[in-house]
Amino acid sequence: MPFPLQRPRRLRQSPAMRRLVAETRLHPSELILPAFIKEGADEPLPIASMPGVVQHTTDSLKAAAAEAAELGLGGIMLFGVPETRDATGSAGLDPQGVLNRAIADVKAEVGDGLLVMSDLCLDEFTDHGHCGVLREDGAVDNDATLEIYGQMAVAQAEAGADVLGPSGMMDGQVRVIREALDAAGHTDAVIFAYAAKYSSAFYGPFRDAVDSQLTGDRKTYQMDAANRTEALREVCLDLEEGADMVMVKPAMAYLDIVRDVAETADVPVSAYQISGEYAMIEAAAAQGWIDRRAAIAESVLSIRRAGAGSVLTYYAAELGRWIKEGSL
Ligand code: PBG
Repeated sequence: MPFPLQRPRRLRQSPAMRRLVAETRLHPSELILPAFIKEGADEPLPIASMPGVVQHTTDSLKAAAAEAAELGLGGIMLFGVPETRDATGSAGLDPQGVLNRAIADVKAEVGDGLLVMSDLCLDEFTDHGHCGVLREDGAVDNDATLEIYGQMAVAQAEAGADVLGPSGMMDGQVRVIREALDAAGHTDAVIFAYAAKYSSAFYGPFRDAVDSQLTGDRKTYQMDAANRTEALREVCLDLEEGADMVMVKPAMAYLDIVRDVAETADVPVSAYQISGEYAMIEAAAAQGWIDRRAAIAESVLSIRRAGAGSVLTYYAAELGRWIKEGSL
């Protein structure tokens, strides 16, 4: 008997063989592109810590959305960067506010060709940068924030958002948003809950991307990196409250959580490859220390392999192009 009897390398011997036996594949429909729009910008503004990502103008955002539709991406997730901010984030409720206008503009551009998603959170709109309104002692006021989220959800749905992404990690937010949407007749608006959202150092570059005013951190509302069981509890609560889809965020440092959630949730599960994950790949690639394209593909594949059905990634359009031209 020749040895070895088992030769797993047989199935790795050529690109065609590896293609045949690949268990996970990337497809444009499961990639969601996060995009920023800056109120009053005359031209797209580069984000220093996220090379290749910009704060869009209305026109450049519409062009990005049209390309996303053309590539067949799963959606575009919009974030607004307002010119003025206040203590309660009122620009987030204003139908003429930067995010609500962008939703309407993008929807008018792409129609049914692309799902328009919006970040439902106050941090971009508050002058203190927290995801909710503050009590007098400076703590984030959960219940006072819920009411505003409900109004914000209705404003986003009226603007034309297909999918709302509540990302503030306030207790009870999904129920309040569902009730507000239903009461306003938006029973079809989908709630894509950032269910297990961790307090993470990897959000760093996002603070640049939205000109964040935050001092301090979000540790009293976002989850602690040490915890796993708590993620399942957050997901269960969001599902009970009416979430249609759930998200784990960040992705790469939390692939175990993605796997846990994918195994327990009976709704589609997504994960967000966030700004710091993007920045790390870009920084290492710029130094010539990693192969940029291979690292991007591998990172997103790992998130899909962990169990996420879809991935929010700043690489969505670029990956979509590579998949389309068959160069991945
Ligand atoms: C909250 C929100 C954040 C991100 C998405 N939604 C910031 C935060 O929670 O601090 C981060 C996305 C990223 O880092 O790419 N509006």
